[in-house]
Amino acid sequence: MAMRRTPVVLNGLEKYLVFDPEKDTLAEVVRRYGLTGTKVGCGAGLCGACSVIIDDKVVRSCMKKMCDVEPYSNITTIEGIGAPNFLHPLQLAMAVSGGIQCGFCSPGFIVSAKALLDENASPTREEVRDWFQKHRNICRCTGYKQIVDAVMLASEVLRGEKTMQDIEFKVDPSHIYNTKHPRPTAIGKACGLLEYGDDLKYKMPPGTLHLAIVQPKMASHAKVLSIDTSVAEKMPGVFRIVTAEDVKGNNIYVTPLVHARTTLNGFNRKLLIGIGDMIKRYGDVVAIVMAETEEQARAAAKAVKVEIERLPEYMNFIETAAPDAIRIFEESPNIYMRQPVLKGDSADGVIENSYCSVTGSFYSTRQPHMSIEGDTMQSYWDEDGNICVQCKSMSIEWNRRGLAGAVGLPYEKMRIIMNTSGGSFGWSTGGASYGLIMICQMLTERPCTMTMSYEEFMHFSGKRCAAYSNGRLACDENGKVTALEFDIGMDHGAYPDVAHEMLQKVARFCGFPYNIPNVSGLGRMACSNHNNGVSYRGFGSPEAEHCSEHLVDMLANKMGMDPFEFRRINIARPGDTTINQYPYPEYPMEQLFDMLEPYYKK
Ligand code: FES
Ligand code: FES
Repeated sequence: MAMRRTPVVLNGLEKYLVFDPEKDTLAEVVRRYGLTGTKVGCGAGLCGACSVIIDDKVVRSCMKKMCDVEPYSNITTIEGIGAPNFLHPLQLAMAVSGGIQCGFCSPGFIVSAKALLDENASPTREEVRDWFQKHRNICRCTGYKQIVDAVMLASEVLRGEKTMQDIEFKVDPSHIYNTKHPRPTAIGKACGLLEYGDDLKYKMPPGTLHLAIVQPKMASHAKVLSIDTSVAEKMPGVFRIVTAEDVKGNNIYVTPLVHARTTLNGFNRKLLIGIGDMIKRYGDVVAIVMAETEEQARAAAKAVKVEIERLPEYMNFIETAAPDAIRIFEESPNIYMRQPVLKGDSADGVIENSYCSVTGSFYSTRQPHMSIEGDTMQSYWDEDGNICVQCKSMSIEWNRRGLAGAVGLPYEKMRIIMNTSGGSFGWSTGGASYGLIMICQMLTERPCTMTMSYEEFMHFSGKRCAAYSNGRLACDENGKVTALEFDIGMDHGAYPDVAHEMLQKVARFCGFPYNIPNVSGLGRMACSNHNNGVSYRGFGSPEAEHCSEHLVDMLANKMGMDPFEFRRINIARPGDTTINQYPYPEYPMEQLFDMLEPYYKK
């Protein structure tokens, strides 16, 4: 492999960068040179996390082939903009304006904004927004307002209208709530110095093995007939290829559903799909390559050959619940859990006799979390013989318990440590990927590291459940709701990870936060061959409220009433109960409506 060497001016210093002209991108090269503040999220030119400045222009470095970088280009990465003891106004402004949450996008935004302010010292808010849009800087956490605030604030400092001291956060000892106290990690993130999972990859000790997963991506429902690793095993740098036969434990990721009232027992998710097993979703993994370098692991993963027998694929609740659908899990019907809700009189009868009623059918979509950082992790044995996994887990304890048997190690010997994480929004409550690295770690003394590509991550990580609902809502002539009837079918995808929690939400939040005296409802949970469900903002309640809030709008409309006023009439007040007949834990709704009213009427 022939390398090339080119001179560049990197953060003000002339350097020679050595790279593979066939495939290295600028992002890969600067990260390899230690400048890991340049993050790689999508790796496809879509998120702006990898933004750098080349000769005054913002460039997405993941898309810039290193061989296309002109000699003596002036390249600025986040590390060349400022450091904790010598902050650029943009870095301080981002920290004090709340522009930094997970922080994975922050270096890209700061680099991009630096180029803007170099070109236009007094941008308007619209120009700032347009700039970020043009340069594809995406943030999943903040909602952008705070980032625009930060750019405007920094521009004031750069124009000399304010000093750095003026914009610093000043602690008011009398209170902390309702202040913009910067998060403790904000400055590290603003400077690109905090180490996220893929940054740690470069800092692992020599001898660390790189892992790559084998996702056949041939079907969403299939029986595995063979897995041929013979060619891949002989490829350069391959240490070992791990399949289900090599797993020291039982290979079963136990989910909390094991405790639930269901016909699936929760012991049904295999981490590695072996010969004779079923692929139940597109992203299932049949093997993992352990190799000396990431590139070698990926090359060998591509050479693993898999034969399958395709089975019918059921991609939503309607298909999976059809009477002629085959079982996705032998031991259970595809609808594996039901949760009725009954309050007051039969809603059906009350609705028939009510002054006004509406009927609707709704669909709320499956939803990917789209955190800008994907899934990335490291593992090693510690000096006490514990397996340690550094990863993005939001559910450390739950995953320790869920994975111990799968991996074949006592629970007490498992440590899960959370890395600095570039967002999750719920998907990293699922621990299956951490199970994969643990399975490999059990087979070697050498440390391991694994970074999924964004595509692998999207196919592997759980998603928000999709839901189909039918509902009816009725009220009297004054607009007081009399009854609610609903049937919500949730499609939790291939594995029942958090289905129990999800279905509970249906029974709690359809019709929330109103006082509804008569309710007849049913929640049903089904598996399908889509990706598995996992927690996501609201954790099931948006799927349930999607049905009831639409019904509320429809009923207000039919009554000729303002939907805000219609809701205000029906919100729960002290003494009223939920659809489960419990008192609401708090009754702030009236106060909230009073607060909302001026905004609504604007
Ligand atoms: S645009 Fe380069 S990582 Fe997303
Ligand atoms: S702070 Fe922007 S993606 Fe998290």
